[in-house]
Amino acid sequence: MNKKTVRDIDVRGKRVLVRVDFNVPLKDGQVTDDTRIRAALPTIRYLIDHGARVILCSHLGRPKGGPQPEFRMDPVARRLGDLLKQPVAKTGDCVGPEVEAAVAALKPGDVLLLENTRFHKEEEKNDPAFARQLAALADVYVNDAFGSAHRAHASTEGVAHYLPAVAGFLMEKELDFLGRALENPDHPFIAILGGAKISDKIGVIRNLLTKVDRLLIGGGMANTFLKAQGYAVGDSLVEDGSLDVARELLQSSAGKIALPVDAVIGDRFDAAAEARTVSVDAVPAGWRILDIGPDTVARFTRALQGVKLVVWNGPMGVFEFPRFATGTFAIARALAESGATTIIGGGDSAAAVEQAGLADKMTHISTGGGASLEFLEGISLPGVAALQDR
Ligand code: 3PG
Repeated sequence: MNKKTVRDIDVRGKRVLVRVDFNVPLKDGQVTDDTRIRAALPTIRYLIDHGARVILCSHLGRPKGGPQPEFRMDPVARRLGDLLKQPVAKTGDCVGPEVEAAVAALKPGDVLLLENTRFHKEEEKNDPAFARQLAALADVYVNDAFGSAHRAHASTEGVAHYLPAVAGFLMEKELDFLGRALENPDHPFIAILGGAKISDKIGVIRNLLTKVDRLLIGGGMANTFLKAQGYAVGDSLVEDGSLDVARELLQSSAGKIALPVDAVIGDRFDAAAEARTVSVDAVPAGWRILDIGPDTVARFTRALQGVKLVVWNGPMGVFEFPRFATGTFAIARALAESGATTIIGGGDSAAAVEQAGLADKMTHISTGGGASLEFLEGISLPGVAALQDR
């Protein structure tokens, strides 16, 4: 990575504004998955150990431009305090006199968490005056929010124009691992793409086709490719508007794209749907493809043998329904046993690997869903571009 990091600057005694991605799931006032909080700990601990005054900020959820109680950061502050084993003070806003007083009271090694940045509509507008208000709280800015780096918001991008701006360790790690897939990847290199929609991933498919030896496609998006090849896919999710692009990608891929040969189908979109396994040329009318079948699992698993690098983004089926989770979990196992460097995109694929109990067997699981997709598409992430070059 060609960006400066916290290692490259002196933070001792300084007020350091750290943008983290603490956009975590909450239920009944509790954090239900603290992966993103844990992922930011190395940067926070480093700053504490080096005597910085640590000011953390993040968005949480998608509030409609004003304070909404369900999106307050208090449960996050409590969880972070437990993990750090030190108190984490929390303010009622992210700018203004209360925040300025709280920052002024910080001693070296103290940690403060600001309220949800999206309680101000100026955040998502990347309003320069709001970015300057955030910047005025600190001497240095650290961006460790890889998961939000595809957003050009005031706290992820704007503020970097008003302070010395460097990357945190999570940001560095994400860019290093995902960067391996795009710059000089080890071969054989295979990408596995799934998830519901092909329209979200056309850019990723195009970019990865120039890098990979094979591209295995499963999940709902495979249905559009199958239909483009002339298969009747019953009531399966299909994006008819993407049939032409699917045809074009298949033609231009020089045989690199592998599609499912069989599927687990359901008679409706429901966890209790009746399930059958059929060849992709035998999907009855009224049924829908909800998982890849065992022959596809076997083919995809064989394709992974001897591979050096695998990038996986998007589940192979509706893994939230246990009877349609087999394909996704089998691919997770195949990755775990492949001996390859395995890089998992964030969001659903990360959740699938977690549910399969195989998270610790993967080389890297990204904390960014949308951000990892845009990165793999080859798009420059605004939150990264704004940081100082080495
Ligand atoms: C995410 O969860 O992908 C990031 O935190 C970004 O959230 P957003 O899609 O609401 O901008």
